[in-house]
Amino acid sequence: MELKDALLKRRSCRKYTEELVSDEDINELMHAAMSGPSAMNKKPWDFYVVQNQDILKKVIKCLLFANYGAKVAIIVVGNLHRALPFDMKEFWIQDCSAATENILLRATDLGLGSCWCGVYPRKGTIAKLQEVLGLKEKQIPLNVILLGHPKNEPEEREQYEEKRVHIIK
Ligand SMILES: Cc1cc2nc3c(=O)[nH]c(=O)nc-3n(C[C@H](O)[C@H](O)[C@H](O)COP(=O)(O)O)c2cc1C
Repeated sequence: MELKDALLKRRSCRKYTEELVSDEDINELMHAAMSGPSAMNKKPWDFYVVQNQDILKKVIKCLLFANYGAKVAIIVVGNLHRALPFDMKEFWIQDCSAATENILLRATDLGLGSCWCGVYPRKGTIAKLQEVLGLKEKQIPLNVILLGHPKNEPEEREQYEEKRVHIIK
């Protein structure tokens, strides 16, 4: 798929079939995730791939809007042990967000549906997920990416607004 098509086709998927996501596809998604940019190339991320359906249910229970029947979840976690020091520490959020978008676009490319469910900076949700996944204090979940085979073909959408672009020549 052309990148431009993936950009337009990527939509939040909230209805999935019963079909599981293959290990090959998960492997592709992890490669995409770690191809992203990161500040000073610190790569302060960990990825938790939950395929176990009992644990998946517990993960989804931590979230407000996520009970969509997805078959797998990838939790993108900022690992503060590898984050930059001082006032650059919070760059982990951007690094992990770039990895997240790479996962979403590659998922679209593979014909999978996906939905980014926000976690950070909601303290209660962070603590619940840390417990379910057995994370350490310095491992902060940024989001839960739901994945599966979509029930319906997502509608392509163009959101371009010229007035939001400020060109300084
Ligand atoms: C930081 C962030 C948090 C989000 N959290 C949720 C969520 O908890 N549940 C959900 O169904 N969608 C969530 N979304 C998806 C947005 O609702 C969705 O991207 C937006 O409505 C635009 O629709 P689209 O993804 O189909 O382009 C989140 C997206 C972002 C970027």
